[in-house]
Amino acid sequence: MALPKINPIHTKAWTKLQEHFKSIKEVHMAQWFSENENRASEMTIKWEDFYVDYSKNRMDAKTMDLLLELAEETQLKSAIDKLFQGDIINETEGREVLHTALRSPKSAKIMVEGEDIMPEIHEVKAKIKNFTTDIVNGKRKGYTQKAFTDVVNIGIGGSDLGPAMVVDALQYYKNHLTTHFVSNVDGDHVNEVLKKLNPETTLFVIVSKTFTTQETLSNANTIKDWFLKSAAETDVAKHFVAVSTNIEKVKDFGIDENNIFPMWTWVGGRFSLWSAVGLSISLAVGYDNFDKLLAGAHNMDNHFKSAEFKTNIPVVLALIGIWYTNFFESESEAVIGYSQYLNQFATYLQQANMESNGKSVDRNGDKVTYQTGNIVWGEPGTNSQHAFFQLIHQGTKLIPADFIGFAKSLHGNKDHQDKLMSNFIAQTEALLNGKSKDEVIAEFKGQNTSEETIKQLTPFKVFDGNKPTNTILIDQLTPESLGKLIALYEHKIFVQGVIWNVYSYDQFGVELGKQLATKILKEISSTDTITNHDSSTLNLLEHYKNFS
Ligand code: F6P
Repeated sequence: MALPKINPIHTKAWTKLQEHFKSIKEVHMAQWFSENENRASEMTIKWEDFYVDYSKNRMDAKTMDLLLELAEETQLKSAIDKLFQGDIINETEGREVLHTALRSPKSAKIMVEGEDIMPEIHEVKAKIKNFTTDIVNGKRKGYTQKAFTDVVNIGIGGSDLGPAMVVDALQYYKNHLTTHFVSNVDGDHVNEVLKKLNPETTLFVIVSKTFTTQETLSNANTIKDWFLKSAAETDVAKHFVAVSTNIEKVKDFGIDENNIFPMWTWVGGRFSLWSAVGLSISLAVGYDNFDKLLAGAHNMDNHFKSAEFKTNIPVVLALIGIWYTNFFESESEAVIGYSQYLNQFATYLQQANMESNGKSVDRNGDKVTYQTGNIVWGEPGTNSQHAFFQLIHQGTKLIPADFIGFAKSLHGNKDHQDKLMSNFIAQTEALLNGKSKDEVIAEFKGQNTSEETIKQLTPFKVFDGNKPTNTILIDQLTPESLGKLIALYEHKIFVQGVIWNVYSYDQFGVELGKQLATKILKEISSTDTITNHDSSTLNLLEHYKNFS
C-alpha cells in the first residue's frame, strides 16, 4: 500500500504547534535549564553506544508532545511499517524502497512481487565476500600475474558518495589496497587519478545503477582506453568489474558476466552503499568490516522500527528538524563531525537529504505551501570553528547544528582527544548560553580595559546564545557505529518526507539539466546557426565555442 497523503498543515497538531510557537519563540533556552535541573537527562536518549542529547534546543516538553502528535496524525507508524515490509512507497517510480533489506539477516523474509528477495541478496553478499577475499589475499591477479594494489571506483552521486564517505571514515580499518574515486566528468579528475596508477595492478569497479550515466560511462571509457594502451582486450575481464541493474548494458561495455555484481531497482542510488555498490568499501576494509557496517545499520533499523517515538532517535531528530524548518523558518542545518574521519559525511548527507526531500509538490500532486527539505552542510570540527562558526554564533541566521563526536579516539592520543572533545563540548555550551553584556564588561574590567574601550567594544563582544544543537556522542568510530549513524540519518530523512507529504525516493529534479546538457553538447560541435536559447545561454555557448 502507498503512503498516506496527509497535508501536515491541515492537522490539528500543526495548528497547536503554531500557537505554541508564538508562546515560546522568544524564550532563551538558558531559562529552561535554570528552571529544570533535569532538563538534560529528560532530553537525552541513550541507546547502545549512542548518547543523544537534544536538550539544547528551543523547545520544551510540550513542543515534543505536539510534534509527536503531528507524527501520529500524519500516520508515521504505519508509514514505517510500509517501508520495511516493501510496499510501493516510491509511487512516482512504482518501486519499493528496500535498502533496509540489504542489511537484514538471512533468516528474514521480505517479499517483492511475490518473491522473497533475501536469498538473492545473500547470494550477492557471498559473491562480494569471495571476490574481496581473492583480491585482498592476492589470489586473483592482474594480467601480468601481479597482485592488485589499487582499486578505482568509477561512479557518481549515490554510486560514489556513499562508498567514498565510508572508505574515508573507516580508513583506520583499511588494508594494503589503495582506493581511488573517479566521479566528475571533468577529464582533469580522471587524469589526475590515472597518473597514480599502474594498469597491471589496478582493479576498476564501475558502479552505475542504470549504466547510462554520462559521467560514469565517459570516465569508464577513458579508463578502458588508457588500460588498453598497455593491455589486451582479453585482459579487461581481469581488471574491470561492474555493479548495476542493467546487465545488458554492462555486457555491451565488454565486461565479463562473471564480473557483474547485480543490484535491484528497489534500492535508491543514494541509499545503495549497503548493496554491491559498497564493493569498494568491502575491498578497502575487508568483507568482515563491511558486514559489521551492515549489522550496525540493521541495529538502527530495529531501533527505528520498535522504539516508541519519544525515545526513537531518528524520529526525535526528524521532528526537531521540522520544528526549526517549519516554525522557526530556518533554511539550513549544519552537521559537524568532531572527527576528521567524518570529513565527507556532510557531503554524503547532502545528496541523501537534498535529493530526497528537495521537493515542492506533495503526494497529492499539489504545490506545497510550506517548507520542505533543508540545506545540509558542514565540515569537521575543529576546522569549522575557524571557518564558519562566527556566523553561527553571531550572524543573523538561525542554523541548528548536529554535533557528532566519539568518546574514544582510534589512535588513543589522549592529549589530542581531550583537546578535540573539550571543543566539542564547549561549542554547544557557548551556542546555548552565549555571553551577556554584563559578562563582557566584567571580563574587560578584569583586564583593566579603559572605560572608553569597554563602551566602544562591548556590543561586538556580546553573544546572544540560544543557538540550537543536538549532540550525538558515540563510544568509538567502528564499522558498526558508522552503520548506525548512517542509518539514523537515512531514517530521519524518511520521517521528514512522510510528514512533509512528499515523495522522498524519486529525483526528477536532476533530469532537466541532463537533457539540456545533451542538447548543448551536440550544439558545441555543430556548425549550424543556433537560435533556440535565451540570449545569455547563446552568448555563453558562442564564447565557449571560440575556444574549441
Ligand atoms: O543524480 C541523479 C542520480 O540518478 C542519483 O540519484 C544517482 O545516485 C546518480 O544519478 C548516479 O546514477 P547511476 O548509479 O545510475 O549511475
